[in-house]
Amino acid sequence: MQFIDLNTQQKRIRDDIEARLKAVLDHGRYVMGPEIDEIEETLAGFSGVTHGMGCASGTDALLLALLAKGISPGDVILTTPFTFIATAEVVSLLGAVPVFVDIDPRTFNMDPQALEQTILAMDSGSGDAALPGIKNLPKAMGIIVVDLFGQIADYDRIEAIADKHGMFVIEDAAQSFGALQKDKKSCSFGHIACTSFFPAKPLGCYGDGGMCFTNDQEADTIMRSLRMHGQGSDRYDNVRIGINGRIDSFQAAVLLSKFSVFPEELELRQQAAERYNSLLGDSDKVLSPLVEQDNQSAWAQYTLMAAKASWRDQILDHMKTREVPTAVYYPKPLHLQDAFTNLGYSIGDFPVTEDCAARVFSLPMHPYLSEEDQEIVAKAVLSFEPE
Ligand SMILES: Cc1ncc(COP(=O)(O)O)c(C=O)c1O
Repeated sequence: MQFIDLNTQQKRIRDDIEARLKAVLDHGRYVMGPEIDEIEETLAGFSGVTHGMGCASGTDALLLALLAKGISPGDVILTTPFTFIATAEVVSLLGAVPVFVDIDPRTFNMDPQALEQTILAMDSGSGDAALPGIKNLPKAMGIIVVDLFGQIADYDRIEAIADKHGMFVIEDAAQSFGALQKDKKSCSFGHIACTSFFPAKPLGCYGDGGMCFTNDQEADTIMRSLRMHGQGSDRYDNVRIGINGRIDSFQAAVLLSKFSVFPEELELRQQAAERYNSLLGDSDKVLSPLVEQDNQSAWAQYTLMAAKASWRDQILDHMKTREVPTAVYYPKPLHLQDAFTNLGYSIGDFPVTEDCAARVFSLPMHPYLSEEDQEIVAKAVLSFEPE
């Protein structure tokens, strides 16, 4: 059994992928070929926004979004410590300062109440033990909100807080492409939304790729310039400092092919998640994932929580002996990473995040997961007996 099976999907669409890759070989426009316009238009339309701009990775998408927002050294960005490093890494890379905000224990997404508390404490300059890392920092410019494991965060509340305090919002939708909240799709929240096409993502390519989405024409124009070394009116006119952040024509071709089955794959993921829910039920050993009523997850991960932190590694060992692959996203929160020691955080600063990091584990999840395999997985989970 595989944790993520990309081969079954490839077999299904192999002829189409080959035809599209051959088309790139034939026209030879490996950089900024016609596939890029096509995938940008297709995915912006799917997400319900006016502009989609392909780029080299989800990390570059976040970097380009922050650059477009004019983030520079010393600026403060609020974000979550329970995410992949890239979310806060891009902030530090620009010389800006990530300030972390704790998460909701059931959705793993940023807790709006904790966000408000952090902003108020920063306003009053009262960096204290309860809200560490915020002493003597300027007011935050913006918030990077993460839709973890495929579930869209609580933007109704977060955007209201951001508006009240004059901050921008960036949606880190690297894990949630295709998810829904009420009638709004992932990648349509915030001022700019960013996604990743890393192969393991709900919509992945065969290498690295990403996209920025926005309804803001000006931001889109700036990001298009930034992804091409700050290009102005032509290739050798540079009006700002940018990066080489383009997506390849080959990757855009793969995405076009994969997108043809993507809506169906989202349904298959949903069915697989529902099957896990009913197989696992309520247990005193593990907690099943909670999807809020207004949300439909893209199920990038199906993540359980061990009832006790001390059981998590025992469960992982137990699953291993039954040859069921598992993964832990994320075992070490960002505020405890060596890369962020300069921020001055320590153990205990974000109790909810730390508790989740010690208890979560993810099960195999992909659209082609068979019922038999899901039964094997569920049996393995349910047969766990703590030592
Ligand atoms: C939440 C989150 N943000 C950003 C990224 C970065 O995306 P990429 O790997 O395409 O650079 C990822 C990728 O794993 C992610 O999960």
